[in-house]
Amino acid sequence: MALEKDPRQLNVQVNPPYPIYIGKDLATTVANTVKSSKLAIITDSRVKALHLEALTKALKVAGKSGQAYEITPGEDSKSFETLSQVLSHMAHDGFDRGSAIIALGGGVVGDLAGFTAASFMRGIDFYQLPSSLLAMVDASVGGKTGINLPEGKNLVGAFWQPKGVFIDVAYLKTLPDSEFRQGAVELFKHGLIKDTSILEDVKKTEFHKDGEPEFLADLIARSVKVKADIIAEDEKEQGIRAYLNLGHNLAHALEAASDHQISHGDAVAYGLAFDARLGLQRGWQDISQETLEFLRWVNPKKLPVTEFAELEPFLKRDKKNKDGKMKFVLLKHLAEPCIVDDLSHDELLEAWDFLVNQ
Ligand code: GLY
Repeated sequence: MALEKDPRQLNVQVNPPYPIYIGKDLATTVANTVKSSKLAIITDSRVKALHLEALTKALKVAGKSGQAYEITPGEDSKSFETLSQVLSHMAHDGFDRGSAIIALGGGVVGDLAGFTAASFMRGIDFYQLPSSLLAMVDASVGGKTGINLPEGKNLVGAFWQPKGVFIDVAYLKTLPDSEFRQGAVELFKHGLIKDTSILEDVKKTEFHKDGEPEFLADLIARSVKVKADIIAEDEKEQGIRAYLNLGHNLAHALEAASDHQISHGDAVAYGLAFDARLGLQRGWQDISQETLEFLRWVNPKKLPVTEFAELEPFLKRDKKNKDGKMKFVLLKHLAEPCIVDDLSHDELLEAWDFLVNQ
């Protein structure tokens, strides 16, 4: 009962700060916490079927109205077309500056709903109710919102912080096991960057989607705290927020080279093992076994490309590169990330060869 009545709370210390609640069966907490009484709930058809009813009921009990806008699940919904449809419906349905949006779903819903909130009437409040582990530990916190262009992912967007994030571990039970494992990759990444206690806990047999709620809530809270602390120091990614990109250069290249045939979680799991190997080649702490063991647990789809030549153009085109230099995050030691912008073709090739031969 404790987690229902008394969710854990941590705050993201931006201006203004906002709370993250981590608990179980949080619909009533959401309904009592959101300030507006007129709420647009942006969700997708899959999540709607699982979680919308409990939320709208709780809002009603709290004297608030929740109107659902359903989008098609999947990355294609992060488009101008979907954005414009939702905005038009909201205008037609009488939403105003005092209204707020609830993002009920995974990363796609969160990014689209957040950008809708940033755009509608020059910006209204929004709240995140992430349904996937990936969105719980990453996308729902930090205020990156946006949509895609045919030219690339997340090329249009805004930093728009939510007014609150509600992480309901009961939602984890409804995830396919593969999706839980993919979400665990960003959680593990936070362990590598800052809180090494996470690395021990993901190895425990209790770490699975039906695991004990107290254990999962505690572990997720530690992972989210790593991100929240980084955001508090560097909200707009001028500096240390880039540490969150550990594993992401290779991941983005794999995603782009395969036309997104590989999931983000799988791609980052490969990316973490790749970056660990790059660090080892520079004589830094050997964490390659740790990352490979975790990669095996994630059980990703096989690498969508095997030739480095196919990947290199995408690595060179990464959004995070500056002045033509590839910017990688590597670990000198566990919990000691650094930015490296002078990796040679040979270093990258050696790490790639290592990875494909696993
Ligand atoms: N997903 C990385 C960040 O929010 O900065």
